Amino acid sequence: MFLPLLLLLLWLSLSSAYSPQSHLFRNSYLSVEDGASLLISQDKSFSSGFYRVGLNAYTFSIWFTDSADKTVVWTANRDKPVNGHGSRLTLLNNGAMALTDVDGTVAWSTAATSSVPDRALLRDNGNLVVEDSNGRILWQSFDSPTDTLLPSQPITKNTMLVSAIARGSFSSGYYGFYFDDSNVLRLKYDGPEISSVYWPNPDQTVWQNGRTIYNSSRYAVLDEKGSFLASDRFQFGAADEGKPWIKRKLTLDYDGNLRLYSLEENRSGLWSVTWQALLDTCQVHGLCGKNGICSSHEGLACYCPPGFEMTDPSNWNSGCRPNFSLSCPLKQEEIEFIYLEHTDFWGFDIKVASGVSLDDCKRICMADCRCQGFSYKLGSGICYSKSVFYNGRATPYTDIYIKSSRRPAATLKLLQHQSLVCNATQVAPTVGSSQMMMKKSSWNTIWICLYSLLAVIFAVEGLFISVGWWFIYSKEDDDHVLMAEGYKAISNQFRRFSYRELEKATRNFGEEVGRGGSGVVYKGVLENGMAAAVKKLEDVRQGDEEFWGEVSVIGRIYHMNLVRTWGFCSEDLHRLLVCEFVENGSLEKALFDPNYKPLGWKERFQIAVGVARGLAYLHHECLEWVIHCDVKPENILLDRNYEPKIADFGLAKLLNRGGAGSSNLSRIRGTRGYIAPEWASNLPITGKIDVYSYGVVLLELVSGSRVSDLVMKGVTEMMAMKKMCATLGRNLERGGENWVGGFVDLRLKGQFDSNQAVRMVKVAVSCLGEEGIRRPTMETVVQMLLSGDDQDFYSDATDSLQFSSFSTDT
Ligand SMILES: *[C@@H]1O[C@H](CO)[C@@H](O)[C@H](O)[C@H]1NC(C)=O
Ligand SMILES: *[C@@H]1O[C@H](CO)[C@@H](O)[C@H](O)[C@H]1NC(C)=O
Ligand SMILES: *[C@@H]1O[C@H](CO)[C@@H](O)[C@H](O)[C@H]1NC(C)=O
Ligand SMILES: *[C@@H]1O[C@H](CO)[C@@H](O)[C@H](O)[C@H]1NC(C)=O
Repeated sequence: MFLPLLLLLLWLSLSSAYSPQSHLFRNSYLSVEDGASLLISQDKSFSSGFYRVGLNAYTFSIWFTDSADKTVVWTANRDKPVNGHGSRLTLLNNGAMALTDVDGTVAWSTAATSSVPDRALLRDNGNLVVEDSNGRILWQSFDSPTDTLLPSQPITKNTMLVSAIARGSFSSGYYGFYFDDSNVLRLKYDGPEISSVYWPNPDQTVWQNGRTIYNSSRYAVLDEKGSFLASDRFQFGAADEGKPWIKRKLTLDYDGNLRLYSLEENRSGLWSVTWQALLDTCQVHGLCGKNGICSSHEGLACYCPPGFEMTDPSNWNSGCRPNFSLSCPLKQEEIEFIYLEHTDFWGFDIKVASGVSLDDCKRICMADCRCQGFSYKLGSGICYSKSVFYNGRATPYTDIYIKSSRRPAATLKLLQHQSLVCNATQVAPTVGSSQMMMKKSSWNTIWICLYSLLAVIFAVEGLFISVGWWFIYSKEDDDHVLMAEGYKAISNQFRRFSYRELEKATRNFGEEVGRGGSGVVYKGVLENGMAAAVKKLEDVRQGDEEFWGEVSVIGRIYHMNLVRTWGFCSEDLHRLLVCEFVENGSLEKALFDPNYKPLGWKERFQIAVGVARGLAYLHHECLEWVIHCDVKPENILLDRNYEPKIADFGLAKLLNRGGAGSSNLSRIRGTRGYIAPEWASNLPITGKIDVYSYGVVLLELVSGSRVSDLVMKGVTEMMAMKKMCATLGRNLERGGENWVGGFVDLRLKGQFDSNQAVRMVKVAVSCLGEEGIRRPTMETVVQMLLSGDDQDFYSDATDSLQFSSFSTDT
């Protein structure tokens, strides 16, 4: 009778806190958890709140309520999305608005003011403002645009629009719209290697472009009727100018073109372009990278000149590279010119000569080592020698001649070049296109992996527990103590330790037994006499409750092949985990340390099966959402009977059930040699990355040597792995078991079960498939290892090996 009422009250209080509102008052906040936690303008045309930009990644944004795809017009934290749980936007007492992440770090904030703020609200024109009690504006989003201007929002000497990096992405790209130092409104490409202005027409003077440099007010604005006026005399009107009721936006698009859009009047929620700065988007600079040529013939496209190929097949920003080498000085007869009709590359001229013949122009270029080619205007005989080719596109009256030689580029050099691209693996997480890895790596989202869904579980559990303690302890009132007590009463397995208790148990942290990325591990003996591993975590910045919520989830994960967590300590700045102590050290020591007795075959097979079972449990049985992310021998511990136990969930990624694969966010650090190819690319992270790492571990178990060692060098990493898989794959296909003796660890002196060895190699090869989707699940792996009969499985696995051109013979 009483309980339903309580639940109703609880529900009401929760739901009222998260309903759309028109004001955000001082000391209150919007929360990421509830999609209805929004600020909406009075006429409802704009909404602001948390906006999902990736798997568990959110920005705080303003968007058009009525547009079909919730078109975003402003973003607070475009390059630093926050977690989908526990993130908040708070209006603080000091006038600042602060966006905090789940771990309390501030992802974005406005400056504090001297006045006391009263409230934040979203105006009908899309301006998010913080006001004091007299209605004076303390801060407004109109002063810090991202890639879009709204009617009545001026661009001034202090503001600049910056494009997004790619279609559908929100993070900052390379294009800018701004007033330059000579008071002229311009569009500029500011890329990793070059930067250049491309609008207004860079081949004409300011005057020829109809601008002036004499008005230093630097102010431009689009009015409600769709006409735009700038202080440098630049002006334009929308195609549907004069209709103030139409909703418009002026956006610097990811392709570098500035476009004015109108929302369709027929309520379809679609946008139509009513003006654009450049008629031909290929006039934008930097679009196709070095040596690349832009074509807008049938949609926007880039291509490479003959004799060139794309430097990074996933990214036009790095352009094209030649298949020849130009080492200077070259003999004249070694030089050839690649001819491109009706093409020009803008800029980077070393020399200009007019009225010369084509042959003379060639001679000028051949004589100059810096000259990589030239453009030539046939009619007027103007010859531009160029030091580098950028901003290529089709033009009617100019031809391009690229200097080349018959000497092929050294293969080695090309591979080295490619390894630069591969270093992207080390740039931690990303959203959207891989292009941004080249430049912006400011994301610090290690927590995404570890902390993502823990918060939700915490919330759900918190509710569960609160109900529990309302039941049990409804007469007492110290919330915090009660939470802990109630939790204890309900779960009674996992507990909080005091720092002093752990100091005593570890004899003042005297015996260090290990050290990893997340902290130092000490051995200790608890009061009940059990040996424990006490892990002092470094760099944990969350508060007590959050930490508690997180580790309590880890505490509930229980499986024979997973290291058990018994409890934790969270006092002042100390954050410790108390885990089961596993006797025999790590698999890494057992396999690779020459001081250890080599592992026997029986143990190896047992370890292979145990680890697979542990991972299968993490992936499939335990709520289906834990991804370890860092499977390697160092993280596999062995007990007295050589039963493996997987340790270190410090990097575990907790995924939304069913949410996996829907987007492409969140990369965390794995360990080189064990990381799957999809880390380098832009694919979503799923449990299949653990399957890949497991495949590497399996090969190491069989061969007794670090497979990862062989694959440590740059791009050859993937190559070596592919090559090895290809060889093993061929051996498997050929059948028989003789070959496997050559692969198995020599220290076993032939004492092994070749049937099992072949099976392990088969499983490993299928786990190492290029495409995650073709790799088996951990459940299948367990079945595979244990079943004698696996013919069907293997034929499937061979398909999954995609040998690319360079994984040919051995
Ligand atoms: C300079 O530009 C501003 C803003 O467009 C305008 O109001 C002002 O009249 C201009 N000044 C001159 C001298 O043209
Ligand atoms: C709205 O108008 C646009 C073009 O003006 C058209 O493409 C679209 O199909 C229309 N939508 C509806 C729902 O009529
Ligand atoms: C480079 O590629 C072109 C075709 O794209 C080919 O004709 C030429 O022979 C190649 N040159 C070398 C040195 O491999
Ligand atoms: C690529 O990674 C290697 C190994 O970490 C490093 O030594 C090298 O400097 C990196 N190269 C670039 C261009 O970042």
